[in-house]
Amino acid sequence: MGGGPSRLGLPRLLMVVALVLLPLCGFGVHGRNHIHKKPHGGGGGGGRQHRGGGTVVSSPAVPPADEQTQPPGIVPSDPVIPAQPEQCVFDVRAFGAVGDGTTDDTEAFRAAWRAACAVESAVISVPSDGTFTITTTTFTGPCKPGLVFQVDGVLMPPDGPDCWPPSDNRRQWLVFSNLDGLTLRGAGTIEGNGEGWWNLPCKPHRLARLNTGSEFALVTLNSVQGPNGSTLRGPCDSPTLVRFFMSRNLVVEGLRVENSPEFHFRFDGCSDVRVDGLSIRSPANSPNTDGIHVENTQRVAIYNSMISNGDDCISIGTGSYDVDIQNVSCGPGHGISIGSLGVHNSQACVANVTVRNAVIRNSDNGLRIKTWQGGMGSVSGINFDTVSMENVRNCIIIDQYYCLDKRCMNQSTAVHVTDVSYANVRGSYDVRAAPIHFACSDTVPCTNITMSEVELLPFSGELVDDPFCWSAYGLQQTPTIPPIYCLQDGLPDSLLDNPDLRCR
Ligand SMILES: *[C@@H]1O[C@H](CO)[C@@H](O)[C@H](O)[C@H]1NC(C)=O
Ligand SMILES: *[C@@H]1O[C@H](CO)[C@@H](O)[C@H](O)[C@H]1NC(C)=O
Ligand SMILES: *[C@@H]1O[C@H](CO)[C@@H](O)[C@H](O)[C@H]1NC(C)=O
Ligand SMILES: *[C@@H]1O[C@H](CO)[C@@H](O)[C@H](O)[C@H]1NC(C)=O
Ligand SMILES: *[C@@H]1O[C@H](CO)[C@@H](O)[C@H](O)[C@H]1NC(C)=O
Repeated sequence: MGGGPSRLGLPRLLMVVALVLLPLCGFGVHGRNHIHKKPHGGGGGGGRQHRGGGTVVSSPAVPPADEQTQPPGIVPSDPVIPAQPEQCVFDVRAFGAVGDGTTDDTEAFRAAWRAACAVESAVISVPSDGTFTITTTTFTGPCKPGLVFQVDGVLMPPDGPDCWPPSDNRRQWLVFSNLDGLTLRGAGTIEGNGEGWWNLPCKPHRLARLNTGSEFALVTLNSVQGPNGSTLRGPCDSPTLVRFFMSRNLVVEGLRVENSPEFHFRFDGCSDVRVDGLSIRSPANSPNTDGIHVENTQRVAIYNSMISNGDDCISIGTGSYDVDIQNVSCGPGHGISIGSLGVHNSQACVANVTVRNAVIRNSDNGLRIKTWQGGMGSVSGINFDTVSMENVRNCIIIDQYYCLDKRCMNQSTAVHVTDVSYANVRGSYDVRAAPIHFACSDTVPCTNITMSEVELLPFSGELVDDPFCWSAYGLQQTPTIPPIYCLQDGLPDSLLDNPDLRCR
């Protein structure tokens, strides 16, 4: 470039143009690499502050082109818009990741994220021949459309609580936040290294006789009593492996995800989520390792996935609507669960959940709806259709007396459970519990429960022919096996116009 000293402006302009062009994919990864090798002063927030407009690449040279007010994808100062968006690959190794299983590659991942986030249809590649360790990171948007986080190798957090950086959040590890249109996929593995967390002394299986509801961690954690009356609050915090927060149009597909310290996936505050072809695996005795937890999230599809773990296969919390679960295989674990809902007299609303073509094996529960005494709101429009059970305790259970320590008082309100259908639910139960168990509230009975072609037989041992059934209204379209006699016709008067039960 040697422009004369009198024309200082030209080289600078060229530099600006070059920097703007770099992310547009006409250049090889190495070209970008040179730029990104430059350390970015800490950048600890994992791109937290960065808009999609290339702030990372060129912050000194390019004006902040993509401010909050700009619709995503439009960069007015950018002179070249590629005719057809091709995918640009941002290999984490090009940003300095080592992938030898021990090096801390966090900064490289954050840099790759910042660069990819600024480019349309970018792919962050975690290559198949590496094992990459990163610490707790929030990958924040907004980003340019079409972003793909492709894990073909192994991605994992530090090995257990002793290796967790003290300043890192102990409740979450990978967090994707404030994104629209992210795909997380790949042929690789997210390895949770959870064992050290499961073995913390405060964990449920370590504490004598404490029930292992999946809310344990969320609800009662703060009051877990240690052996000598001490409070074991802090040490019990364990990270959710992958959390999606306040995001939409998400796709998660193809990955193996295993040995999470706590929940494997958690979606909260999201909408339009598709999960497809996942394999989630943790040991049956790993505490609180729910497979996929959904909460305050709408329009969720969970398809073609295998989940075996130590807690709920899929758990659905309040604020979840339009959830479609198909071709999912669960077990061992605690089955598919709606709830628990209404804890601490809260309002809870879940509506329009379908579970179709599911297989549940060797599980503590099959299809469960659980609510606390004293809640408000409703669970409605739940369809269980074509579910095969094998050696499952409590194959079909509605429990409106959910309680972790057996000391809960009955209260005068409850989350209303209504419009629940069980169709073509067949298979075998573990005889240690009644295969059908409807324990509904005295004041807010369950209503419009329909059952057709429910046929459950003992996996081994004697028939349990006294299903538990209390305060439930509904209809048997075909006689169930084992037979239940308690479903009552019509609607109880107590429910008419009760404003506490209303949802959206
Ligand atoms: C509980 O108290 C006993 C006896 O005082 C003591 O030996 C033990 O170390 C204490 N355990 C904990 C976890 O503090
Ligand atoms: C229920 O959810 C499905 C998606 O799972 C959606 O297609 C359907 O329109 C919803 N039904 C209602 C009544 O909202
Ligand atoms: C469920 O599995 C069947 C059989 O493999 C397949 O045809 C169908 O497309 C799957 N459903 C979904 C929603 O992927
Ligand atoms: C709560 O109500 C149920 C159903 O009426 C009853 O079986 C149970 O004993 C009650 N529990 C308490 C703690 O009062
Ligand atoms: C009962 O629930 C089913 C869904 O399981 C629904 O289609 C039907 O409309 C409900 N009936 C009434 C009377 O609300």
